Amino acid sequence: MAIFLFVVTAFLVACVLWRPLNAWWHQYNMRKAFDPDSNLNHLPIPPGSFGLPFIGETIAWITQGANFNSSRRKKYGNVFTTSAISLPMVKVSGHEYVKQVLTGEHDLVTTIWPYTVRAILGMNGIVNSTGAIHKFKRKVAFKAFTRAMLNQYIPFMRHHSAKIVQQMQKSERPLVYPNMLRLTFDVGVNALLGLEITDQAKSDKLFQTFNQLVSNVFCIPHNIPGLGFNKRLLAVAIFSKNLVQKSLSFESIFQGMKARQQLLDLLQTHIEIKKKAEDDFELSDLAIKEMAIELMFAGYYTSASALTSATLELARHPEVFAKVEKELIDHGILREERSSADAETPDEEERKIDLQALHKLTYLDQVFKETLRIRPPVLGAYRRARKTFQIGDYRIPKGWTVIYNIRDTHEMEFKHMSEFNPENFAPTGNETKYRYIPFGGGPRMCIGQDYARTISKLAIIEMIRCNSGWKLANEKLPKMVSIPTLHPKDGLPVILEPRDKV
Ligand code: HEM
Repeated sequence: MAIFLFVVTAFLVACVLWRPLNAWWHQYNMRKAFDPDSNLNHLPIPPGSFGLPFIGETIAWITQGANFNSSRRKKYGNVFTTSAISLPMVKVSGHEYVKQVLTGEHDLVTTIWPYTVRAILGMNGIVNSTGAIHKFKRKVAFKAFTRAMLNQYIPFMRHHSAKIVQQMQKSERPLVYPNMLRLTFDVGVNALLGLEITDQAKSDKLFQTFNQLVSNVFCIPHNIPGLGFNKRLLAVAIFSKNLVQKSLSFESIFQGMKARQQLLDLLQTHIEIKKKAEDDFELSDLAIKEMAIELMFAGYYTSASALTSATLELARHPEVFAKVEKELIDHGILREERSSADAETPDEEERKIDLQALHKLTYLDQVFKETLRIRPPVLGAYRRARKTFQIGDYRIPKGWTVIYNIRDTHEMEFKHMSEFNPENFAPTGNETKYRYIPFGGGPRMCIGQDYARTISKLAIIEMIRCNSGWKLANEKLPKMVSIPTLHPKDGLPVILEPRDKV
């Protein structure tokens, strides 16, 4: 009875206080949005809602998923205000606004990453650096992605793709996503860490260590000193409820740091850096090793996501599969009559795949691009406003979080978001800059995109060389999860059709 009375009283009090509380919350945020150093205070902030006092729109954000953005965009437009817990933020979609955010890096905005990224990946990487140091580190890291380097990686990429496809063929319903994760890891060990591990047990052990590192980067540290309650809840909001269920403690961070140390101990400094007269900075051995691990991390979930989505779309679109197959035959990469046995002993012609040969596969390129349009592995990224600035007719106050939406931008800029159509990227000369942004843009644009493109195309080629097709093992389309990158919840079981069985 007492509980009933308490609930009824609380409900009545909430009803009476609802309006004044909301009005106070709105006033509070508006007062905080005033920047005495700015001459833009006369401009309105973007339309939207600060949500409920203190918790903002967090609950709607978590429960509505992708609909959250679409419904707000419909109501308020392509730049709207929202709030998660007590932090006001602006979400931005569409080429015009996104361009402003992306090119405003270092000046209008700066990137923000969770605490765990610094704690586990280290302080010396690219993503946590800013200004001239950031520019210098990118320049250094690019040395790992030149044409010459990519051509050197191709044999590793082909070798590991063949190994994974053979592995998958041994199972009745192989799971695509975990296999693609393993593939991107194995290639990264050779190409990015510069290690050659022939012993399978050692490789499996390293895989386990690496997973310990990356999975803890996305844990939510619930008892880190200095991380206030609000920020923790915000982290929960951002990183979704799935992760909340994971055991969250110092232990996770320590495990991630331990794994990092094990990886660092293994690495030799393999990127040779010659200090040029025009460079103002030098990198320590530790910094180079941390950057190598960061590249492994940045390319791991993202490339596996792209490959899994491509496998999914090729299964759903046999006509697209047939066109890719024909292109491979036309370019001498696949023989018309072919069995799985041939896959193990490719003839001379088939061996000749280099960047130039890949470049000629224009339809495969369209398929890759379209996959990243409809299923971008990274849905959006975070920035913080360094100063109050103007977007369209609106003011973005200093200190606010700004999120540029990749998926929503694709939805706005292309007519049929969910229709897989590689013709969207037919070479018609259409300008796609900032309309199509799976790799971001501006000073923080993905530096591994050519690497990702190369490994993805080679793995797809290998899947098609060994299989005349594949079907989704489950009738229903899988539920997609967006953290850490977009991937099917069920791992995407498929039924392969090896070429020698047809
Ligand atoms: C299909 C695969 C990939 C996708 C969709 C992707 C997507 C992205 C996006 C959207 C960003 C920009 C984030 C932002 O604006 O804050 C980014 C940055 C970055 N990516 Fe990728 N990425 C992929 C593969 C890779 C690979 C393979 C590597 C390295 C081997 C890599 C390394 C990086 C790094 C280091 C950054 C940070 C750049 C900076 O802060 O200056 N990515 N990626």
